[in-house]
Amino acid sequence: MRIGVLGAGNMADALATQWARKGHEVRFGARTPAKAVALAERTGHGAAGGTLREAAEFGDVVLLAVWYDGVQDVLREAGPLGGRVLIDCTNPMEPPFETLKTDGGPSAALRIADASGGARVVKAFNLCHESVWRMTPPAFGGRPLGVPLCGDDAEALAVVRELVADLGCVPMDGGGLARAGLLEAATAFMVGLWFAGEDPAAMIPPPEYSGGAPQLTSQ
Ligand SMILES: NC(=O)c1ccc[n+]([C@@H]2O[C@H](COP(=O)([O-])OP(=O)(O)OC[C@H]3O[C@@H](n4cnc5c(N)ncnc54)[C@H](OP(=O)(O)O)[C@@H]3O)[C@@H](O)[C@H]2O)c1
Repeated sequence: MRIGVLGAGNMADALATQWARKGHEVRFGARTPAKAVALAERTGHGAAGGTLREAAEFGDVVLLAVWYDGVQDVLREAGPLGGRVLIDCTNPMEPPFETLKTDGGPSAALRIADASGGARVVKAFNLCHESVWRMTPPAFGGRPLGVPLCGDDAEALAVVRELVADLGCVPMDGGGLARAGLLEAATAFMVGLWFAGEDPAAMIPPPEYSGGAPQLTSQ
């Protein structure tokens, strides 16, 4: 696949490095193109770097990996993404994680879809720290990490499922894009627990105690 990456920070690095290793063509774009070029050099595997617009135009799939406050400017700079698969890994929050920056309004994912000029948005990869996305593979206790996806377009979801599998993770059906706000809120709550020194995993009982048959993933 041709993957354009908007952003040249930790998430751009963690995810796109994995995909480049798997043989995908990667082009990074950043508001400071030199940062995208430097990241491409570190990534290797033929990755290139340049402007946000170049990365957006390059990708059949585009990863949006910038801070929430920069999302609208970055999408404006990237230009219309009509028809593209746009992966939104953003989290509209910052320490101390008491509220979401979306402030009770539409989710970040829905705002991104609105501003994207018709991209097929899939919310994914926002739940875990960037260090997890660098693992080869991300697996804990012998169990591959599940990655919830929220999106409305079946073809776009199939593409992102493939990219999840490329990391060695297992995609999970998180429902439509309207549910992305729940995923954003759940992430903020979980990160808040981590920052408070708690272990969020301890509050989730095994599936047999959750009212349904145990099911590892959507696959
Ligand atoms: N870090 C994590 O563990 C993690 C995990 C899951 C999701 N996320 C989400 O992923 C996104 C990226 O996080 P990250 O960890 O990759 O951050 P990062 O390493 O700080 O990189 C942020 C990127 O966003 C760009 N950016 C920031 N503010 C901007 C603005 N106002 N206008 C244009 N570009 C701007 C930065 O450009 P400059 O270099 O020019 O500043 C940089 O390319 C965030 O939404 C974050 O919430 C992060």
